[in-house]
Amino acid sequence: MPRPVPPALLPWIEVLVCPNCGQGLEDADGTLRCPARHSFDIARAGYVSLLSGAPAISGDDDDMARARDRFLSTGAYAPLRTLIGELAPGDLSRVLDIGCGTGYYLAGLLDRRPAARGLGVDTSVRALRFTARAHERAAAASWDVFSRFPLRDGAVDLVLDVFAPRHPAEFARVLAPGGHLLVVRPAAEHLAELRAAVPGMVSVDPRKEERLEAALDPLFTTEAVRDLRFSVDLEEGMARELVAMTPSARHVEARSLDQVLPRASPVTVSVTASIHRRR
Ligand SMILES: C[S@@+](CC[C@H](N)C(=O)[O-])C[C@H]1O[C@@H](n2cnc3c(N)ncnc32)[C@H](O)[C@@H]1O
Ligand SMILES: [Zn+2]
Repeated sequence: MPRPVPPALLPWIEVLVCPNCGQGLEDADGTLRCPARHSFDIARAGYVSLLSGAPAISGDDDDMARARDRFLSTGAYAPLRTLIGELAPGDLSRVLDIGCGTGYYLAGLLDRRPAARGLGVDTSVRALRFTARAHERAAAASWDVFSRFPLRDGAVDLVLDVFAPRHPAEFARVLAPGGHLLVVRPAAEHLAELRAAVPGMVSVDPRKEERLEAALDPLFTTEAVRDLRFSVDLEEGMARELVAMTPSARHVEARSLDQVLPRASPVTVSVTASIHRRR
């Protein structure tokens, strides 16, 4: 028996296109299929695989995605979820969350925009399983952010990118005229105490802002930039999750973590969020 397409994915079918040939897709007994009969399965967990060509070379592994889910579930990053809700335009119908992880920020935004529908994109299967059940209006799909997106031109009115890789030319292409891009990235002091305590944790590139500006400027006008800084008391296990949800996790020994983590609390969260309008 074919499984029905998840309700949250249905409204996205008309704007999705085949990643192989660019033609439209339709629901063929629970798979998405183009007129050239390229077909794309919908996993039991509810996300559709739209990867094409070579497998993506980046993406969180299962342990990282689980650690992210456990950490975000504590509510420690709720102020950032709130800020995203404040910065995003009021009137939204389609939101694309690139590198959505567990769908935490997408779900928060959909809660505040009852008419909006979300699509979270990631290459991590484990992350997509979380996203597919993060919100009743959140669909989930896998594709590589560095490829051409399997979406029609002008299909969405907000692209959200939170701590995730970016592809400005594709962001601009899939945004409707006047559509917006909301980017969140770490600032210099982000998790400074943790980075000081845990050798090998990735540091923030000091030229990040400059590089972001140069990449976005030809395609977008910046409308607002907000810095958000707060501190989080890392209770039992939380520091470990914070380390585990970064790529540094693979380089850090569990035993050395137990010795250094108590010194990392409270930890500073320092991020920059900005909203850009498609030129
Ligand atoms: C630091 S996490 C941020 C996740 C989420 N936005 C959040 O803030 O909770 C970066 C995410 O980007 C995803 N990612 C990495 N490379 C990617 C790629 N090439 N295409 C799509 N997603 C990718 C990872 O799997 C991961 O979920
Ligand atoms: Zn096709």
